[in-house]
Amino acid sequence: MSNSDIAMIGLGVMGKSLALNLIDQGFDVVGFDISDAHRIRAENEAKNITKSEGKGAFSSVDSIANVLLSLKSPRVVALSLPAGHIIESVVDDLLNAGLNSDDIVIDTGNSLWTDSESREAKYRDKLRFFSTAVSGGEVGARIGPALMASGDKQAWQYVQPMWEAIAAKVDDKGLPVGQFEQGEPCAAYLGPAGAGHYVKMVHNGIEYADMQLICEAYHFMTHTLDLPADAVGKVFESWNQGVLNSYLMEISADILQTSDPVTGQPFVDVVLDQAGQKGTGLWTAINSLQQGAPAPTIAQSVFARAQSAQKATRIQASEILKAQTKFNKKEEVSQILANLHDALYCSKLVVYAQGFDLMAATSIQEKWQLDFSKIAKIWRSGCIIRAGFLQDISFAYQTEPDLPNLLLNRHFSHQLKARTLGWRETVSSSAMSGVPMPGISSALSYFDSLRCAVLPANLLQAQRDYFGSHTYSRVDKPEEQKFHLSWSENIRTEHKV
Ligand code: 6PG
Repeated sequence: MSNSDIAMIGLGVMGKSLALNLIDQGFDVVGFDISDAHRIRAENEAKNITKSEGKGAFSSVDSIANVLLSLKSPRVVALSLPAGHIIESVVDDLLNAGLNSDDIVIDTGNSLWTDSESREAKYRDKLRFFSTAVSGGEVGARIGPALMASGDKQAWQYVQPMWEAIAAKVDDKGLPVGQFEQGEPCAAYLGPAGAGHYVKMVHNGIEYADMQLICEAYHFMTHTLDLPADAVGKVFESWNQGVLNSYLMEISADILQTSDPVTGQPFVDVVLDQAGQKGTGLWTAINSLQQGAPAPTIAQSVFARAQSAQKATRIQASEILKAQTKFNKKEEVSQILANLHDALYCSKLVVYAQGFDLMAATSIQEKWQLDFSKIAKIWRSGCIIRAGFLQDISFAYQTEPDLPNLLLNRHFSHQLKARTLGWRETVSSSAMSGVPMPGISSALSYFDSLRCAVLPANLLQAQRDYFGSHTYSRVDKPEEQKFHLSWSENIRTEHKV
């Protein structure tokens, strides 16, 4: 029967959840997975939904050929597969089974954006290869993720109604009248092939850094103020009511107030302190280095995960490298917490500024014309980094699309002005007490470097010229004129090169 609206290949956690979400919204889905267990699980969960009116139907099939037989034309096939060569292998199977140039294949995984670009080029005349990066984890995919789409524009016209139906919707409570439409779906077409997965990669870089900042605040509170986990959770819960409102803050508050069902201890105290990673944060850090668009706090969060993984060395070092520390307990706890709150807010802002700056550099390089207001808008709900202040970020780019750096926006520069002192106090207390704050302190250094009209790179250029004749520009001459000083001669003279 060729009547399904869309196929889902890969019925793991994300594929199954997206399929169930589509059924909920009235679309008929055919599913395929090489694992029988995954197919059976999806069928069983779909049965409960398809009994109700207005819902789509689900059928699962046992071969790629049967997937194609079950679809309407043009055939729309979504892939929910791990990043890597498996994507090509399944697309090749689809082509061998008869997929044609009108048909659409959508990669919904966490693929590397350059792979999405080359796949789109590779399959251009054979099928319409489209990308949609999905954020929101299992729950998001099931009830409303953020969807970052890119590639063939005609393919977008086909998938747009489905994607907008399943995407998270923004609850507009409290928004300035007329600023944004009501109930906007967090799904958007962001640009040519690669753009959607690129934006998702930067989303994940921000996610890594935001998580790291929250972890540092928790570490600081437990080690300098001796707060137990549930008390830190309560602090986070109250911060989540204000400018720090975000999904990551909300889940951190919940996690910290949870007890281990086995021992009854605070749950976090029984979790081993070694962070894993699948690589998207690393990709963002590498891309930042390649672009020369500084995202040090994002890179630092990747390093922090790597350092956490060196558990055995850390245990050894904790004995050998005992250091003198001094924590100034003169301050009231409420003041220390207020400072930490501001440090977290400012650092978070810096992380987003780094992410948007990186996207701006790549958008120019790739001629994507990314719309940053739109990106911030679709990140307001459904995705892992959803946060109250994305509304302000979206508004900042809506009013100033060419903002050179998010921190220069009037609203944010005022916020920083009011909160910088608490940030500095926090970083200095963490340094004095020996509690690491790689993210929060790196964000402060980025901020201070950004606001330094003159950096010590003058000395650096002179050093480069000294040992390598790498030349320098002069402050009193046009920048493109290059000079070299005859460092090895007794009387040093300058030569124009
Ligand atoms: C999301 C998440 C999701 C996942 C990442 C990060 O937006 O839904 O970012 O894509 O959590 O794979 O995972 P790691 O922390 O393992 O790298």
